[in-house]
Amino acid sequence: MVISADHRLRQVLEIHRLISQERRLDKLAALVMETVGSLLEADRSTLFLFDSELIALRSCFAQGMDGQKSIVVPLRMGLVGTALLQRQTLNLVNASRHPYFNADFDSVPGVPLDSLLAVPIFKADDGQVLGGLKLINNPSGRFTPEDELVANDAARQFAECLGSNSVEIVPVIQKLDLLHNWIEFGHGAVFRLDQGSGVLQALHLEGGANQTPLNMRLGIAGVVALTGKALMVVDAASDPRFDASFDRETGYVTRQILCVPLHDSRDEVLGVIQVINKIRGSFDAGDLDLLVSVAGIVKVALENAMHAKEEELQFHSLVDALAASIDARDPLTAGHSRRVAQIAKGIALQLKFTEQDAELLEVAAILHDYGKIGVNDAVLKKEGRLDAVEYEHIKRHAQLSHDILDKIHFARKYRSVPLIAGSHHENLDGSGYPLGLKSHEIPFMAKILSVADVFEALTADRHYRSGLPLTMAMEIIDAGIGHKFESRIVAALREYLKLCPFERSIRPVEN
Ligand SMILES: [Fe+2]
Repeated sequence: MVISADHRLRQVLEIHRLISQERRLDKLAALVMETVGSLLEADRSTLFLFDSELIALRSCFAQGMDGQKSIVVPLRMGLVGTALLQRQTLNLVNASRHPYFNADFDSVPGVPLDSLLAVPIFKADDGQVLGGLKLINNPSGRFTPEDELVANDAARQFAECLGSNSVEIVPVIQKLDLLHNWIEFGHGAVFRLDQGSGVLQALHLEGGANQTPLNMRLGIAGVVALTGKALMVVDAASDPRFDASFDRETGYVTRQILCVPLHDSRDEVLGVIQVINKIRGSFDAGDLDLLVSVAGIVKVALENAMHAKEEELQFHSLVDALAASIDARDPLTAGHSRRVAQIAKGIALQLKFTEQDAELLEVAAILHDYGKIGVNDAVLKKEGRLDAVEYEHIKRHAQLSHDILDKIHFARKYRSVPLIAGSHHENLDGSGYPLGLKSHEIPFMAKILSVADVFEALTADRHYRSGLPLTMAMEIIDAGIGHKFESRIVAALREYLKLCPFERSIRPVEN
């Protein structure tokens, strides 16, 4: 069946719209496979996701295979494995004759394998393996290069949604790139309207280099943002609403403009999307119609990104409030958790943690002593040594940190906060508490937290003594290497200290 380009574009746009609205993985996976499978007329379509525990691919949804169990494919096996290894899409006819065809993983019982499209899926930011798409048996005997584009685009969309912890505007940007594949234009941009300042902030530009925020009252984009109505300008120079300052500064010649507002669910203007200078001929009603369709998707991506940003802000203010409540309990150790967090993050970055992992550790560090909220004042604020009973009482705080934090719903990258925070007094040799975990049982981030915690406690002033100088503190830490602390973490602490020897919490050597 011949599918017109316009029809295909609408279907691709539909995939984008659906994917950008779905946040649950199972639904998202089903959606991708169903839509892509039927769009490309595949007999079977399967989505494989990387399972980090099995270090293998696990089929998570197979269209046309209802009720069948998921299958596990070793990472480098079969044709999807080959696509992942080669980091490129495989588009095959007679796939069962391919040298890497593996009957155990590539064949479907009762279905002779003919054409096959295997698309690897990687995380957008760091290229990690996420999984792969497999589509088999197009009725024409082959998948076309356009089919390949559609499947690649869906895979990229899926990867984005799967890894979208980030509050970046990347999804918005890619929608515009998508548009560029269908209408050839000279210059295009998505602008977000800052309601407070009334400024249209350029989020993404295609084909141009102007990153200067535009004032919403200027130019066609400003009019569209103000009125909330789309505009098509076929001769910019003769339109009094056109603002020529950009052209004057850059030498660019704006001939035609297509500009569409982005409304949120309450019908308020979030921003605008604008394309300039159609390469062949003039913009027409069909182009405007397309841009309106794209705007429908961009606005969802933009709203999601803005919500994600708000959620992130809300989360950090919650963490700050919790940290302040621990400080209020015991003003003499106030700031301990913040300094521990700073040191732990410093160590993590020396150990080449990703920014995301370092952030997880930072939050766990800020909250690690939260369980002290359940320790009696008489013990918590006691000056001098604790007796055995008091010591047992104060030891409870680690388990309490875990138990209280476990009641908070930490989403996505912060999911391990309770576990890491609750394990900060465990020692490599199993002599720590609350569980007496041994080396390999202790989360690595908790091991970092433990070193940072002890180091901060040794160097900071306490109720009953002033902090130790750096060299003495490091001698004590060194003495714990092997049975309490991991040597590479202590080494990373030393490296970090070289970078910031005069931090407020870290005393320089006293003469
Ligand atoms: Fe503690």
